[in-house]
Amino acid sequence: MLMPRHTDITHGLTQRPARISPKYFYDQQGSQLFEAITRLPEYYPTRTETALMQAHAHSIAGVVGPGRTLIELGAGNCQKARTLCRLVQPACFVGVDISADFLEQAVQGLRDEFPALDARALAGDMTLGVALPEDIPRTGRLVFYPGSSIGNFDPPHALGLLAHMRELIDDDGGLLIGIDLPKDVAVLEAAYDDAAGVTAAFNRNVLTHVNRLIGSDFDVDQWQHRAFFNHQESRIEMHLEAVADSHVRWPGGGRRFEQGERIHTENSYKYPLSVFTAMLARAGFAQAQAWTDERGWFAVVHARP
Ligand code: AVI
Repeated sequence: MLMPRHTDITHGLTQRPARISPKYFYDQQGSQLFEAITRLPEYYPTRTETALMQAHAHSIAGVVGPGRTLIELGAGNCQKARTLCRLVQPACFVGVDISADFLEQAVQGLRDEFPALDARALAGDMTLGVALPEDIPRTGRLVFYPGSSIGNFDPPHALGLLAHMRELIDDDGGLLIGIDLPKDVAVLEAAYDDAAGVTAAFNRNVLTHVNRLIGSDFDVDQWQHRAFFNHQESRIEMHLEAVADSHVRWPGGGRRFEQGERIHTENSYKYPLSVFTAMLARAGFAQAQAWTDERGWFAVVHARP
């Protein structure tokens, strides 16, 4: 069911426990904080994925092949697309992202570097389904979903998204996706609770964004960042915990939070490779080839129908 943004947020806030969707992290400040997170010493996913793509550039290029139509979901600053374009020389690129202005600028950067590339920016929330323009070639598509963002969806939702990616391609198409693998809990928890407090600032910024979106009066300083690994669910959970009792109001409603009460803001699932490939198979991707780093922390997977 599609809910207007205001209702979506207030509905989550009045649940017990309360929750806010992680998609509300990414206002301008949140996007900048996320970029800062990717450069933190503790946050291994981005640099591990980049190193993997570099180390296996030739075999990835060999499997994908040139002249494809590259469709990147959550393209952001198109930094990863740039690296992949150098590697596989696609004929066409479609970057899909929620933030239209930012994306158009990034896609223009790709056009400048690759003048022969037909590069398009498509603004939209990929979690609601991607409708590609009619003139985007149907054959030879490669869906690119790096960064282990699939881990931010609960498994049934992630499966639905993978099935949607399968629908975007023909039988000759493929999917190139990054996934974060389970590992030592101390490594995982440090990655989501760094010493400099950047992830804490990223988490708490969601309240500033929500205040702006729905007119609520969260006092951001009264909320603490919490991040821990949930073994049973194989996921990092991020929460905001009330430092003191408070009453938060917004137009048309509000609620009381007791000291220690939490708002659940994000899950980041860590799938063993075998579990993820089984999920891919259920979504219609029967063949998968994976590249992992020597520590077995991250995987880049190429999947085919
Ligand atoms: C975007 N996504 C893959 C990040 C992750 O690792 O789950 C979001 C993030 N949350 C806290 N740090 C990074």
